[in-house]
Amino acid sequence: MAGKPRVAVILGSTRPTRFIDKPAAWLMDLVRAYGKWDVELLDLRDFDLPFFDEMASNLWMPSQNPKAVAWQDKLATFDGFIFVTPEYNRSITGALKNALDQAYKEWVRKPAAVFGYGATGGARAVEHLRTIAIELQMVPIRHGIHLQGADFMAVHPMGGNGEMKDVEAHLKPGADAMLDDLDWWLNATMAARAEDRRAAA
Ligand SMILES: Cc1cc2nc3c(=O)[nH]c(=O)nc-3n(C[C@H](O)[C@H](O)[C@H](O)COP(=O)(O)O)c2cc1C
Repeated sequence: MAGKPRVAVILGSTRPTRFIDKPAAWLMDLVRAYGKWDVELLDLRDFDLPFFDEMASNLWMPSQNPKAVAWQDKLATFDGFIFVTPEYNRSITGALKNALDQAYKEWVRKPAAVFGYGATGGARAVEHLRTIAIELQMVPIRHGIHLQGADFMAVHPMGGNGEMKDVEAHLKPGADAMLDDLDWWLNATMAARAEDRRAAA
């Protein structure tokens, strides 16, 4: 099997006053300490994606917009994904949905984990994202991280604005299970995709 799995941590919020940087920084430290993957943070702000305006998804025909193609080319370099997402009106953000729509082939047969935050730990956004991931032929995994309720308010700037380490003990069991689950699926899908490439050669 080729090298270490490559995992992208994708940030689901782009607004100027976003909170996401705090939980994302905590997650990046955790994933780097886990040490099994090459990890890169993908901030949707850096990709400046237009609203989807292609003839079809790139499953059917190549995309025309160079920014969409750049996004797809970047995604193609990864073996799996961890989405960090808030909950906007019981779903993911429009920015993240658009970024998901702007690729297809690059998501297929790769595992996806989710770190949600909000009053209910982003539970409804996380479930919605898992359903979207199924349509994109990802492998959404069961375990995830939910920063919720009093913990969410303890670290959010509109609440206590505390440090992530203050609530870490509550997040760690889910996080550890998520990392191990994602690692299993990364190895399984990488091996299976390599076998597909061999068979097609
Ligand atoms: C448009 C909008 C809709 C929201 N809807 C929800 C919601 O459905 N559930 C929830 O728990 N929080 C909701 N919130 C509060 C967010 O959890 C909170 O603003 C959080 O900081 C958003 O993440 P961000 O700052 O990284 O963008 C909403 C916030 C916005 C701006």
